[in-house]
Amino acid sequence: MSIDLSALPPAERYKLLTAVVIPRPVAWVTTVSAAGVVNAAPYSFFNLFGQDPALVILGLEHRAGGQPKDTTRNIRETGEFVVNIATPELVETMVATAASYGADTGEPEALGLALAPSAQVAVPRLADAPVALECRRTVALAFSAEREILVGEALGLAARDGLIDTARNHVDWGGAFPVARLFADRYARLVEIERRSIPPVPG
Ligand SMILES: Cc1cc2nc3c(=O)[nH]c(=O)nc-3n(C[C@H](O)[C@H](O)[C@H](O)COP(=O)(O)O)c2cc1C
Repeated sequence: MSIDLSALPPAERYKLLTAVVIPRPVAWVTTVSAAGVVNAAPYSFFNLFGQDPALVILGLEHRAGGQPKDTTRNIRETGEFVVNIATPELVETMVATAASYGADTGEPEALGLALAPSAQVAVPRLADAPVALECRRTVALAFSAEREILVGEALGLAARDGLIDTARNHVDWGGAFPVARLFADRYARLVEIERRSIPPVPG
């Protein structure tokens, strides 16, 4: 079978594409509004796209009517954001921050989430997340009335004690990897399979 994606309404395309491009990592993004309200929300159109510069990308959809989400507006206003990485134990809390709180209400305060200061940006991180990337906006690209792609540079990395051996820059998750998003309201734990290094070209 073959599906002509261009013939489908965007919502149906979303259903198909987000169910086949899995798992996706989740950026649990903290930002601060111009008024000083700390915001948190999950974004799974997210990934790392390089190390020099250290680029991260977020797919930001606007609300109906083209209104930017709080995360988008805050990054436009301050140019900074923090990508917090969640483990499966934090999924319920992470999803709770996706509720449509108004711009004046910060999810961390409303839900009682502890914050910790960042080293490279003014935006705080979520204290319970094992890892956070402290980022500055590089460029935002508008593709339609609803779709913006934000490219940022990761300037700093914060990690819980014991996760990183800084002498070797070695990260040891001890098997307790970050949560993976499947689709809709479904998430997964990652289970490592056998290691496979790239072989030399035969002959
Ligand atoms: C796991 C998860 C992933 C999400 N990924 C995205 C995403 O990539 N892009 C997006 O625009 N919204 C995404 N959302 C929806 C936003 O989190 C939601 O609209 C939220 O209310 C935005 O909050 P804000 O206005 O505080 O930024 C996601 C929601 C969940 C639960």
